[in-house]
Amino acid sequence: MKLIPQPTLTHSAEVVIISCFEEDQHPVGLPPSCAEEMSQAFRSKIFTAKFGEIYSTIISEPKKAKVLIIGLGKKKELTLERVRRTAGKIVTAVKSLQHQTVIVSLPELLRLNGFFTDEEIGRSLAEGFLLGDYTFEKYLSAEKKKKEIDTIFLVWTKSTERIGKGLKLGRVVAEAANCARDLVNDSASVITPAHLEKTARDFAKTHKNITVRVLNKEELQKEGLNLLLGVSAGSYQPPKLILIEYRGDKSRAPIVLVGKGITFDSGGYNLKPTKSIEEMKTDMAGAAAVLSIMGTAAELGLHQNIIGVIPACENMIGGGAQRPGDIVRAYNGKNVEIGNTDAEGRLILADAIAYAEKKYQPKIIIDLATLTGACVVALGYYAAGLVSPDEQLSAELREAGDTSGDRVWSLPFYEEYQDWMNGTISDLINITMKGKGYEAGAVLGAVFLRQFVEKAAWAHIDIAGSAYWAVPGDYIQRGATGSGVRILLYYLLRKE
Ligand code: BES
Ligand code: MG
Ligand code: ZN
Repeated sequence: MKLIPQPTLTHSAEVVIISCFEEDQHPVGLPPSCAEEMSQAFRSKIFTAKFGEIYSTIISEPKKAKVLIIGLGKKKELTLERVRRTAGKIVTAVKSLQHQTVIVSLPELLRLNGFFTDEEIGRSLAEGFLLGDYTFEKYLSAEKKKKEIDTIFLVWTKSTERIGKGLKLGRVVAEAANCARDLVNDSASVITPAHLEKTARDFAKTHKNITVRVLNKEELQKEGLNLLLGVSAGSYQPPKLILIEYRGDKSRAPIVLVGKGITFDSGGYNLKPTKSIEEMKTDMAGAAAVLSIMGTAAELGLHQNIIGVIPACENMIGGGAQRPGDIVRAYNGKNVEIGNTDAEGRLILADAIAYAEKKYQPKIIIDLATLTGACVVALGYYAAGLVSPDEQLSAELREAGDTSGDRVWSLPFYEEYQDWMNGTISDLINITMKGKGYEAGAVLGAVFLRQFVEKAAWAHIDIAGSAYWAVPGDYIQRGATGSGVRILLYYLLRKE
């Protein structure tokens, strides 16, 4: 999709979109022939410019074209998320009309001096357009594929460099998220641990400052990453620990990003039932996000040291699979009882975090994981769960989440919970033995992980709900969302 800023409104595309705030009552840029129709629509309240409302009409001059007037709502209620949602609604409306070129006139947005910068508006628009245009069509026959939008001409009353800068950044971030969405939406029979390794190695080929190292099964055995090995034991797919090293500034202490890479989670012998198991190809959404972030960090040439760490395997029920009740010695030497084979994410992350901290001595570790159903219950789709003992890191992540629209909401890491994952016959157990067993599930996942962090500032982001939507949003269709990509890219950009 091309996004072309142009300074004046000339009605020469198939569709013209004109935006209007509730307070204004007269859209700017309408040809005289339909100005009267619009004032009538306002007077009779057929159209009131409420947020998301769309009025459609046709103009005949200078060329016949469909015109959609889109409501922006109240000025003081405008947020960058509303800008993205507006862009998404525009894309959906234009696609349903089966058009490929569109003129979008949004001068109203830019008159709000002091509210948001032109750059912020530009990037939010690009994000909304590009994320909104994404559909997963790899397995659709040609006649079933929807035509993508070819060009959006964006009309501004003032055309500044900063809008262009924003559009460019928004595009990079949205394309990174779309790349993660492709990996998550695809079939688990294709996206195996070996495929994740290949994706990482491809990044290393195209970016000279990326190096990839992969620990295969024998190396994992030698190093003692037994939690990862244990989870993978029931599958034909060999496990991998994928290490992606991006060196943008050797003098800075590295930031480690860990992504859960369970390419399919059957639950293991604590097998998932129907209605829970079907979406479990998405259990590598953390890994997909980390992969895309690494490629994009290199593309942007960030002046940082970032290490992407992906423990990848399948959680299956083959004859070699681990059993509930097994006790396994983790990489850091702690013994863990497998209370439930379906709480596998924390096991592979634990070994990955401990290994990465020892190997790279990072100052910051952030993990992204589809870790708990409890997080889906707590927060639903529109925020990931953030659990961290580090207040500064939490605040920075919340801020990056808010500006990017890829939001996180903090769950409390209270002291009272800190012994809830202790074992009775081993150091730790992967499900709690306290209470009824389901309380504060998303927090307890993090309580377990904390036992594997030594010195680094650490945050855990549970994307179980935000990574995959069963219902479409305004700028994200049903399916994978790329959750984690936008927030962490903005977080890293802030650190530049
Ligand atoms: N991959 C699941 C979590 C999940 C649930 C992701 C729904 C996406 C949507 C994870 O491995 C899991 O099974 N967690 C268990 C943990 C429990 C046994 C402590 C869960 O949430 O039930
Ligand atoms: Mg599980
Ligand atoms: Zn899982």
